Amino acid sequence: MIYSEKVLENFANPLNVGEIENADGIGEVGNEKCGDIMKMYLKIQNNIIEDVKFKTFGCGAAIATSSIATEMIKGKSIDQALKLTNKAVVEALDGLPAAKVHCSVLAEQAVKSAIADYYKRQGVDPVPIVGEIEDHCDGQCN
Ligand code: FES
Repeated sequence: MIYSEKVLENFANPLNVGEIENADGIGEVGNEKCGDIMKMYLKIQNNIIEDVKFKTFGCGAAIATSSIATEMIKGKSIDQALKLTNKAVVEALDGLPAAKVHCSVLAEQAVKSAIADYYKRQGVDPVPIVGEIEDHCDGQCN
């Protein structure tokens, strides 16, 4: 499998690793096929994602996608973060091998799941805003 420089860089030195104490939203998603788990913590103020951290128990591609996804939503509004697609994550990494694209889906879902948790804590139903979060393999798994 050939990985881009960006994937290798984000895997070797992932950014935003860790937890946020008193996070405003925490998301956790898993891929039932590979068993990998991604947890994401958000600090949100005035609709802006002021800080984001993650913990990924998973493959190298999952770690690289979490790293780049957190960088892409940091300092952005919730609306912008909700527009983050796994495709954008893959592009930012200069591509992923086809068998690893599902790992980037996990990153998109982890962001959405953390935002959904944020809304739940405010007493707001997240489904109309965030949509249903599929925390399972969508058929792309091997
Ligand atoms: Fe499980 Fe990458 S997320 S193999």
